[in-house]
Amino acid sequence: MRACVLTYGCQMNEYDTHAIQSQLAGIGYSFVDHVKDADLVILNTCAVRGKPVDKVRSMLGDLRKEKKKRNLTVGMMGCLAQLPEGQEIGAKYGVDIMLGPGAITEIVPAIQRGKFQSYEFKAELNFYTPPPPKDQLTAHVTIMRGCNHKCTYCIVPTTRGPEVSRTPADIMAEVETLRAAGVLEVSLLGQNVNSYGMDHGRSEHRPVLDGFPSFAELLRMVGNAGIPRVRFITSHPMNFSEDIVYTMAETPAICRYIHLPVQSGSNRVLKRMAREYTREFYLERVRLIRELLPDATMTTDIIVGFPGETEADFQETLSLYEEVGYDMAYMFIYSEREGTPAAKHFDDMPHEVKVDRLMRLIEKQKEWSWKLNRSWVGREVEVLVKGKASEEGFMQGHTRGNHTIVVPQSLAPKPGLYRATVTHATPHMLYGESAEVSARSVAARLEVLGAEA
Ligand code: SAH
Ligand code: SF4
Ligand code: F3S
Repeated sequence: MRACVLTYGCQMNEYDTHAIQSQLAGIGYSFVDHVKDADLVILNTCAVRGKPVDKVRSMLGDLRKEKKKRNLTVGMMGCLAQLPEGQEIGAKYGVDIMLGPGAITEIVPAIQRGKFQSYEFKAELNFYTPPPPKDQLTAHVTIMRGCNHKCTYCIVPTTRGPEVSRTPADIMAEVETLRAAGVLEVSLLGQNVNSYGMDHGRSEHRPVLDGFPSFAELLRMVGNAGIPRVRFITSHPMNFSEDIVYTMAETPAICRYIHLPVQSGSNRVLKRMAREYTREFYLERVRLIRELLPDATMTTDIIVGFPGETEADFQETLSLYEEVGYDMAYMFIYSEREGTPAAKHFDDMPHEVKVDRLMRLIEKQKEWSWKLNRSWVGREVEVLVKGKASEEGFMQGHTRGNHTIVVPQSLAPKPGLYRATVTHATPHMLYGESAEVSARSVAARLEVLGAEA
């Protein structure tokens, strides 16, 4: 029995894919990369924007043809499966198994019950503890699920439900398992990790309640658990409290990498998005980060072309960019999602306007990425090498600041932690060397990549 699990969307889905795979392995499935080699195909879907939905639709079209030729079971899991839109799509393409993100541990019973079943999706959100990894250097640990914010453009609260925190005992037990298995980097995962424990009545004034520490406390606990690198994603500026910055400054294992989605630089747009903060509040958080963590890498998410966004609003986003200076950004065109307040109350704008703004923003981000990447040249960095780079003789890894970095195999013969000196930078990555490698070879490589030295 061979299964192929395809993942769309964010890290939550990647994590869920691991959970799905290890359950399938438990009943004897092996895994293949191509759907044509599989008896069971599971699409772990995403619904956050139109694009991932289109991808799923087109894959299901291919699978429907494949099903006519041979015995094939198709499952739709993940966020899209939770929505009426996904259930319609599933029915149209003859999907056999449908399970929402709250029901990932239902996959084995669903398969065992046989094909052509329909399922309820609102199973209790449950956490899944994967078995200890083998030969794995990085791992994700889910600390909470769901989101209590109500950003007007976003479908995630509908697909993932309200915030539910995992118990600190479970989290620390998983972290310990990962440490013992030789994992060098853990990423704490949640839609909004900063509000960890708040579903247990904890607030900034009641730091520990019901046994649930604050996110900053939890971060400190994980940071002191003996794993060299600890990260977390994602933060919401409103819940990114000062104590998190202090904890980061005081705990060496916590990587100084902060992903702080801003979405827009215009207060008018932020209000329509119901983001709950202002540009000024956001910049104040950034100021504290810069003061206490001067070498921190900062990244963000931006939506361009939100309904009603004027050119003046967009200029505010560009100027916020200049004030913050992001190392990297995920930039999205607003995509209307059925069932969200924005879709109900606002009119979408012409696609060309959105694309034009996106292009201008990408240009600006590229300038900043390059400028900030170049500022690392000459500095020594820690590299977590994960495997071979695409170029012969080189290995690829990432720094504590989450820059992608390529180093010679002579410096890093096998996966692990190394130190390297940054010698060159492009807008997208860094190149590190040990001192003895000649500058000539680096220049030649950069030429191949079309980058300027
Ligand atoms: N919980 C996280 C991530 C949510 S989804 C957070 O709040 O930051 C990841 C990103 O997708 C969001 O930050 C947002 O930039 C983008 N996004 C969400 N809904 C969108 C939509 N309807 N159109 C375009 N981008 C969207
Ligand atoms: Fe969506 Fe907003 Fe929640 Fe992020 S904080 S998941 S953007 S509703
Ligand atoms: Fe997509 Fe669901 Fe993640 S909608 S972005 S997979 S939470």
